[in-house]
Amino acid sequence: MEFRIAWCITGAGHFLLESFEVFLKLVKKKDVKVTTFLSCAGEEVARVYGILDRLEKISPGNYYQEIILEREQDKGFPKTGRFARNRYSALVISPATANTVAKMACGIADTLITSAFAQAQKGEVPTYVVPTDLRAGIVMTKLPALVDHDICIDCDTCLPLEKCPNNAIKIIEKPVIDLTLCRGCKTCVELCPHSAIIFGKEIKTKVRKLDEENVNKVSQLEGVKILKHPSEIYDAIFYIGGN
Ligand SMILES: Cc1cc2nc3c(=O)[nH]c(=O)nc-3n(C[C@H](O)[C@H](O)[C@H](O)COP(=O)(O)O)c2cc1C
Repeated sequence: MEFRIAWCITGAGHFLLESFEVFLKLVKKKDVKVTTFLSCAGEEVARVYGILDRLEKISPGNYYQEIILEREQDKGFPKTGRFARNRYSALVISPATANTVAKMACGIADTLITSAFAQAQKGEVPTYVVPTDLRAGIVMTKLPALVDHDICIDCDTCLPLEKCPNNAIKIIEKPVIDLTLCRGCKTCVELCPHSAIIFGKEIKTKVRKLDEENVNKVSQLEGVKILKHPSEIYDAIFYIGGN
């Protein structure tokens, strides 16, 4: 029997690459089909972290293996009717932004992902949420590509700028990466002779008490399980009856 999973990506860099790795592993299982849903911000963030162009490995485009983009959908998100009709064995929202979790906690369903969540509740589809902002305090997160201006020495010819396949590097006094064009291919990282372009730089970020409270509210909804890390998705999915 086919085991259909809906994977929802919201606009979070935190846990994004880890979520992608888990789904690459999941689709290797026999009879597992994954539909990938992306919020508008999810599509942007997946692009700059370099996974947007690789999502076809998870959802190659067949029935129930589509990549569904919020910006291409009508405002009522008819595709999320699949959840109310119980067409999926599981819904996984990973990573889930603080924004999406806040909306889910209040019952707001005005985006592709929050609508999927609301419909899944109506269709009693088991739902797994991996929030980026789980517990109040400091967490470490990784940034997409950036030029470190403490290292950049402003070469006369900037190789990354010349060779970027997406023309995403501009000079604004010094070279900067235009994240609206970047596709996270890392060509620039390899080409800079001074290693001034860094992908995945770690920074500290603060999780608010408000976001923790929203996660707690969502955890109390029927059929919803909060997972601390994407690595927990695999076991959670197979616990509900996969092969
Ligand atoms: C590169 C980048 C990374 C981001 N990472 C996060 C994140 O880890 N967690 C989060 O809550 N928001 C993050 N955001 C902000 C969200 O994308 C923003 O709140 C957006 O409105 C979320 O929309 P969505 O919940 O519909 O996907 C990030 C934004 C950018 C541009």
